[in-house]
Amino acid sequence: MANARSTCFLLASLVIVFTPCLAGAAQYNVLNYGAKPDGRTDSTKAFLAAWTQACGSSSRSTLYVPPGRYFLLNVQFNGPCKNNAIVVRIDGSLLAPTDYRVIGNAASWISFKNVDGVTVSGGILDGHGSGLWDCKQSGNNCPSGATTLSVSNSQNIVISGLHSLNSQMFHIVVNGCHNVRIQGVKITASGNSPNTDGIHVQLSSGVTILNSKIGTGDDCVSVGAGTTNLWIENVVCGPGHGISIGSLGKDLVEPGVQNVTVKTVTFIGTQNGLRIKTWGRPSNGFVRNVLFQHAVMTNVQNPIVIDQNYCPDNKNCPGQSSGVKISGVTYQDIHGTSATQVAVEFDCSKRSPCTGIKMENVRLTYMNQPAGASCNNADGTASGFIQPSSCL
Ligand SMILES: *[C@@H]1O[C@H](CO)[C@@H](O)[C@H](O)[C@H]1NC(C)=O
Repeated sequence: MANARSTCFLLASLVIVFTPCLAGAAQYNVLNYGAKPDGRTDSTKAFLAAWTQACGSSSRSTLYVPPGRYFLLNVQFNGPCKNNAIVVRIDGSLLAPTDYRVIGNAASWISFKNVDGVTVSGGILDGHGSGLWDCKQSGNNCPSGATTLSVSNSQNIVISGLHSLNSQMFHIVVNGCHNVRIQGVKITASGNSPNTDGIHVQLSSGVTILNSKIGTGDDCVSVGAGTTNLWIENVVCGPGHGISIGSLGKDLVEPGVQNVTVKTVTFIGTQNGLRIKTWGRPSNGFVRNVLFQHAVMTNVQNPIVIDQNYCPDNKNCPGQSSGVKISGVTYQDIHGTSATQVAVEFDCSKRSPCTGIKMENVRLTYMNQPAGASCNNADGTASGFIQPSSCL
């Protein structure tokens, strides 16, 4: 097929009918619906009106946000839509209210629900979360906070080139989705901001996270129950709590996590590196078939950790033994420095021990010495160069 896009571009340059051609689709510009790029005027209604058109279009469409600063209360982009090729192209910055109470009790600030075939491209999303973090840190009665961007019950989603900063709570949440690609995103929040996970995935399959840089006060990526076929590659994490499968097993009946690949990741000064974490409570949950490959740790407190005794405040964890069965976890080519003496910790459940843990070529040091390893109820094999020496 001839290159329709470049032909289009050429024509556009000649005739200067740039906008619809560049998008290759009907384009709905928020400015035409009353949005004001002044950083002050509430543009929520304009964004929703443009969305209604883009979503209602029977052929591919673009919702366009030109450069500028747009103040938005919570915006819900709901489907189902009449076409499955919607691009939300954001060349501007979206700003949440600075008073955290305005959206502090909403589940999310910006959400997509029940959509199929949506690409969110570009954009700076400023959650203005620091007021809420301060509130939480002062121990007052604070709202739990809004997720900056949530995508739920949706499929065939791309989030690309977006910069999310200072979310009140989680930055990006993928919940109940199939086939989601998140690439080239940057997520930034203070290293001591509470609950500001970078990307949280749950009840979803076929999620891919690529080429991203995440630094927050909580997990860079957290993987919740019911996540399958997850692929994370080329992610830099820090500050933050690392890449974490869990917390899982809070509930008695819970879907498992299966087929997770985490490769070519770098952790810089994080609390954890590669972590699996479950509550010390009865549960039918499981973690199966996980590959951690090519990770570099720089001054990480717990580079490799399985913690099956999570029980904040020691409350509601009868017997303190997790029901979550962890099996088939491979650590391959993991190296770098630990900020604590124990660089490898497998603290598995007495009731359902970890099985099939494989370590291949792991080299972690603590203050220029081999670090230590600690195992509880963990079974598996080690091969290649292993330092600290295996306790499996
Ligand atoms: C595991 O997940 C990947 C995507 O992350 C997928 O390509 C692969 O087919 C899955 N494997 C199985 C056995 O389902």
